[in-house]
Amino acid sequence: MEKENIPLIRVENLKKYYPVKGGIITHTTGYVKAVDGVSFSVMRGQTLGLVGESGCGKSTIGRQLVGLETPTEGKIYYDGVDLAALQKDRKQMREVRTRLQMIFQDPYSSLNPRKHIYEILAQPMLYHQIARRDTVEKEILRLLDMVGLPRTVLGRYPHEFSGGQRQRIGIAKALSLNPEFIVCDEPVSALDVSIQAQILNLLKELQKELGLTLLFVGHGLGAVNYVSDQIAVMYLGKIVEYGDAKDIFHHPVHPYTQALLEAVPIPDPTEKGRERSLLQGEIGSSTCPPEGCRFHPRCPHATAQCRQEIPEMQEVNGTVGKALEADAESRRAQGRNAGSVKAWEADTESVKPWEADTESMKTREADTGSGKAWEADTGSGRMRAAEIGDRMTGDQEQAENPGVHMTACPVVLNGQAEARKLWGNIF
Ligand SMILES: Nc1ncnc2c1ncn2[C@@H]1O[C@H](COP(=O)(O)OP(=O)(O)OP(=O)(O)O)[C@@H](O)[C@H]1O
Ligand code: SF4
Ligand SMILES: [Mg+2]
Repeated sequence: MEKENIPLIRVENLKKYYPVKGGIITHTTGYVKAVDGVSFSVMRGQTLGLVGESGCGKSTIGRQLVGLETPTEGKIYYDGVDLAALQKDRKQMREVRTRLQMIFQDPYSSLNPRKHIYEILAQPMLYHQIARRDTVEKEILRLLDMVGLPRTVLGRYPHEFSGGQRQRIGIAKALSLNPEFIVCDEPVSALDVSIQAQILNLLKELQKELGLTLLFVGHGLGAVNYVSDQIAVMYLGKIVEYGDAKDIFHHPVHPYTQALLEAVPIPDPTEKGRERSLLQGEIGSSTCPPEGCRFHPRCPHATAQCRQEIPEMQEVNGTVGKALEADAESRRAQGRNAGSVKAWEADTESVKPWEADTESMKTREADTGSGKAWEADTGSGRMRAAEIGDRMTGDQEQAENPGVHMTACPVVLNGQAEARKLWGNIF
């Protein structure tokens, strides 16, 4: 198989359980199931967006990918190689670790306040022998140019920068080891909107220039959609919907994704009375998650079966996919309350000024070519999935076909297909 066809990152059934200690003689009384059986893959040069409420396990996945934590169970493959198998070979492990980097939500806490920028950037490069003492300054200046910071900041300390500038230093630090894959853990959520736009555009530019592969963690669907090729929606340690970013936004199937989308504010006074199925209740406990579908206590469509059986990931394929598409189209054409679609469109509008904000957007057209190639590639992936569908579980299929639209809600998925069949007969 050619290298381009192997996902750079492939995660299979990843779990992370943290022990809960209690009692007079401290012993383990239970586990926080922060990540509980997650599978996905990210193709080289692509971005996977990971969204979900606070505490659902997004950062825990990121930390395991870059080796800050070890999985309780499951596999992480980097360029086809099982990372756990590399543990025995320290030299190789160290080499691979430099290729996997992370940008943190709070750049201030990830930068040593006692060191100036020169030291912060020079140390990792010298330690990993990316640069020598006599060439390191040249490398640092190249990094500063790349992230748009003036060359005069070398002697300044982290507290002497604004939030946006500090995040640029965080990005320069991650880039200093020439990574291939970067986990961006909510890199813009601590910044104000105009600075968010600059940082997102910078990340997109750098990704294109350096051919980076990204896992972009975020709360806001607008920002995640702006940077992502695929999106995975997480709920209480599990992925509940997964697929191409545009599929997820135009045709969300899982009630949780629909609720996330409908929660996006629309800057339009005529939409004041819009019906929104805003989520009720709390996310639930990772220590003692609800039986069956973890979303059932908050789900308006929950059935008795949902309370007992854990739903499997299923592909939103063929007829159902087309039915959803036709339904969304007719809702749009009739100007009916297509809440989620409108929310998304409004959200996209608010993102547009960001696009104008950057030179890199000039090259977007050229990039569409590779996007098309990707679509064709996804198509062939789907055909392959259809050919071997019987032998693959939902999780495997999700891990091996990054573009395929999967959902863990059989009730809504099958309900929409049935409804479509009925409408088809009536009209
Ligand atoms: N070291 C740890 N020990 C015990 N529990 C932990 C640890 N790290 C994380 N957790 C728990 O795991 C769950 C997932 O945490 P995580 O930080 O991955 O959430 P998140 O989705 O990134 O949330 P946020 O959006 O707020 O950053 C939470 O319930 C958290 O309390
Ligand atoms: S399976 Fe679907 S309908 Fe049932 S509770 Fe879960 S999200 Fe709701
Ligand atoms: Mg987090």
